[in-house]
Amino acid sequence: MSEKIHMIEDIDEKQFEYMNLVSEIMEIRKRGEKPLAFIHTYGCQQNVADSERIKGMLEQCGYSFTDDVNQADFILFNTCAVREHAEDRVFGNVGALKSLKRRHPSILIALCGCMMEQEHIANRIYKSFPFVGLVFGTHSLQNFPELLYNSLVSGKRTFEIGNDDRKIYEGIPIHRDGTFKGWLPIMYGCDNFCSYCIVPYVRGRERSRDPEVVISEAKKMIKSGYKDITLLGQNVNSYGKNLDTDINFASLLKKIDSIDGDYLLRFMTSHPKDCTKELIDTIAQGKHISTHLHLPFQSGSDRILKLMNRKYDREKYLEIVNYAKEKIHGLSLTSDIIVGFPGETYEDFKETISLVREVEFTSLFTFIYSPRVGTPAAKMDDPVPYEEKSKWFRELLDVQEEIAAKRCSEMVGSNLRVLVEGVNEKTGELNCRTSGNIVVEVPGSPELVGDFCNVQITKARNWILKGIIK
Ligand code: SAH
Ligand code: SF4
Ligand code: F3S
Repeated sequence: MSEKIHMIEDIDEKQFEYMNLVSEIMEIRKRGEKPLAFIHTYGCQQNVADSERIKGMLEQCGYSFTDDVNQADFILFNTCAVREHAEDRVFGNVGALKSLKRRHPSILIALCGCMMEQEHIANRIYKSFPFVGLVFGTHSLQNFPELLYNSLVSGKRTFEIGNDDRKIYEGIPIHRDGTFKGWLPIMYGCDNFCSYCIVPYVRGRERSRDPEVVISEAKKMIKSGYKDITLLGQNVNSYGKNLDTDINFASLLKKIDSIDGDYLLRFMTSHPKDCTKELIDTIAQGKHISTHLHLPFQSGSDRILKLMNRKYDREKYLEIVNYAKEKIHGLSLTSDIIVGFPGETYEDFKETISLVREVEFTSLFTFIYSPRVGTPAAKMDDPVPYEEKSKWFRELLDVQEEIAAKRCSEMVGSNLRVLVEGVNEKTGELNCRTSGNIVVEVPGSPELVGDFCNVQITKARNWILKGIIK
């Protein structure tokens, strides 16, 4: 049994006292009116799940939420560091708040999340954005009420980053954004250190939540009407490593799947190196488990995969994909791909194209490589100009467009169970999603939002399906 390297504890009781104190201060400052918070989340679902916890704490601090930044007493951006583009957007949007703060000096502007765990970014915020009053990283979430209280009372700038990255804090209040679609983190952090990726540096060591806590949270969600639950982690397939029980991801999935109710269980992200046949069999035999497998391969070239430190090769990837295709009825595969990793040649890129053609993914998330400060790849020679990488990128998009259109047209005539997620603003039709994570538009009553329906696929328009309710 491996060594248990992290501790799971409840958040400190004193944080609840701080929530009460903030609520009292704001009641006086707002003369009985509810203070308003504007929260904007960048990045992945991990960040979305963190924001739901921050909102939970803010709610207990007496805040309501607004979508209008001009109305807010508290503005928070939960940031993402995964690519330069994500960071640039944050800098641009924070800069735009300068005049708002000048007009309303009493508002508190805060930044949190992955970007803030990078020292050079925190320094830049400190120097260039003096109107930002509170900054905290991903490891300080559990102290948010105290940080908020101190900022409000002292009026001084507060920067809190780089705390212990090996602990899990339970018992943080949650304000979920959705009423029938919800996120359920099962683990935090990442130990894989893919050579291009900043996540292990900003999210800390991989640590799994206690299975009993996860199962009881899942039960609560199902009981309160959640129909689509996504288990979250940077690499859910390594769930349970370092816990002092023998549980792994497949057995956790089985346990949750055995909970009674009408719901769909999704999960992301799966790392190919830890994707086992046991997991595929669990999905194939599941009662509620989605047939969507998001299995990022990043590159089709073994040479590049090695440089990326991904710990699998093309052959191993195809072996697991082919096993999944054979076992899982209605399997829908998606992937992440990086184009233009340092030193990648057009020949390497062609290997990526050939893998895309061989597997025939439903959809792809494709990115041009973005150097991240402090990662090994950022120090590698990167001779191919960005314009060239953009050309390759477009070539990949064209290939995938052709495959997605083909895959969608093959689905015409089939009958599928979908969850109605909302009403399409443009067409007035219902936006639905299949178990395989494909969007289907159907005419129907808005009252169906939040329900499962059986639909027949009648048309494929590029990669969006059209259907009718049966
Ligand atoms: N844990 C997940 C991915 C998290 S980041 C996994 O391993 O699959 C989401 C995606 O962003 C990655 O899969 C990768 O394709 C992309 N990405 C990460 N770092 C990047 C970088 N420096 N440049 C471009 N894309 C990157
Ligand atoms: Fe990043 Fe790799 Fe971890 Fe995914 S598995 S978060 S790509 S280091
Ligand atoms: Fe971005 Fe952090 Fe997620 S870097 S992708 S928000 S873990």
